[in-house]
Amino acid sequence: MQHPFPPKFIWGSATAAIQIEGAADIDGKGPSIWDQFCQQHPERIYQQATPALGCDHYHRMSEDVALIKAMGHNGYRFSLSWPRIQPDGQGAFNEKGFDFYDRLIDQLLEAGIAPNVTLYHWDLPLALAEQGGWENRATVDHFVRYAAACFERFGDRVPQWATLNEPSWSTLNGYVTALHPPCVHSYKRAIQVAHHMLCAHALTVKHYHEKAYLGQIGIVLNMSTVYPATASAQDETAARLADGALNRWFIEPALLGHYPDDVWQYYADWDLLPEHTGEELGWFTEDSIDFIGVNYYYPHYASGNADQTQFYLNTSGEKDPAQDCIFSIKGAFKFVKNPQGRYTDWDWEIYPEGLYELLKRANGYRPNIPIYVTENGIGLQDKLNPDGSVDDPDRIAFVKEHLAVIHQAIEDGINVKGYYMWALMDNFSWINGYKKRYGFLYIDRDNDLSRYRKASSYWYQSVAENNGF
Ligand code: BG6
Repeated sequence: MQHPFPPKFIWGSATAAIQIEGAADIDGKGPSIWDQFCQQHPERIYQQATPALGCDHYHRMSEDVALIKAMGHNGYRFSLSWPRIQPDGQGAFNEKGFDFYDRLIDQLLEAGIAPNVTLYHWDLPLALAEQGGWENRATVDHFVRYAAACFERFGDRVPQWATLNEPSWSTLNGYVTALHPPCVHSYKRAIQVAHHMLCAHALTVKHYHEKAYLGQIGIVLNMSTVYPATASAQDETAARLADGALNRWFIEPALLGHYPDDVWQYYADWDLLPEHTGEELGWFTEDSIDFIGVNYYYPHYASGNADQTQFYLNTSGEKDPAQDCIFSIKGAFKFVKNPQGRYTDWDWEIYPEGLYELLKRANGYRPNIPIYVTENGIGLQDKLNPDGSVDDPDRIAFVKEHLAVIHQAIEDGINVKGYYMWALMDNFSWINGYKKRYGFLYIDRDNDLSRYRKASSYWYQSVAENNGF
């Protein structure tokens, strides 16, 4: 075998509650910001899709666990829906919500699949949003209470917890690009939100460790690599700023225990600093997390030539070679396409080397820190054949290329402990709706949401069974 992996390597896949569960308003679940956003602004989502039905995982959970087992995975990453467990985010807990995840966790463990549980994957309870959401300092305390209740309920069985999924991407889209709810265009408010999320993370980790639960706790970050678009000094500066704002602002409090000085100074100069207390900054401590989760899809190329603020995201899956500027903040930086790059139909570049660099970088912050690749995958326009098969050679190639760089990283002494392909099943791809398919399982949306294994799932099964390829 050319690529043997270390013993006990986790071979898994990932999902998030609102992207698959459906059952949006039954058994006591409260509404989330995404439920409301999709109802109020259907025009902002490709083909006006909503997560209301999702993949109906809520009702088909046992079937899905059986499929995960059949596919040979030994790990599964999923998120808890905060409004399913605590409908208004601050009051009474919902026993039926707890009960659903109790059953999921028990069935996974029975099947020999280790649960990796994320507490927050963007579906904030609507009632909290109506009180200012993450801009409101009170949400920090509400989150810690919610997390504490989840630890009490599931902490005896869950070996791995993540506090937040991609706080950088969710604040960026919620408060800068305005593509996600609450659709705000304010960099200052984004930084306040990010600060509160990081406070919630830090207090939750502290609480978990004080209670000495059996597992490990970390955070999941989308640490996209940022390269200067050209060798000009202006682009170098833009790349450093973009990397500071999107990556280091999040990873350094989590791993080093403080915000990056240069970005702090930049925000101070531009009057963007978050309101904070000295006590809050003291909550960020070095060495607090037990592992880091890295989500990686594509790299960025930063140019300093940002003469306007604009955002563009291909949600249609129609390649658009003419569209160059993807993300631009006037006077700061803009992201542009790589003229030499290989791109998916949604204009996401395929660049596995970027993942290698991120793994090396995470390890550089704290040598030997356990790292899990908590998401990595490719959105494709998969088709169901009449015989129920699905050919997805591009997904096999994508995963294989990324596993090869992970293997290299491990050979180079980096402590990568697992890989979770995004996603277990085709799901509600946020503003892309359902056309963009990511799963090992094809979901037939024209026929009762039936599940079909794609060719990639058989290939990945053999990788998991052989612990390498
Ligand atoms: C990650 C998210 O940023 O990207 C996932 O954690 C998401 O929830 C994935 O689905 C792919 O993004 P998208 O927008 O193509 O679904």
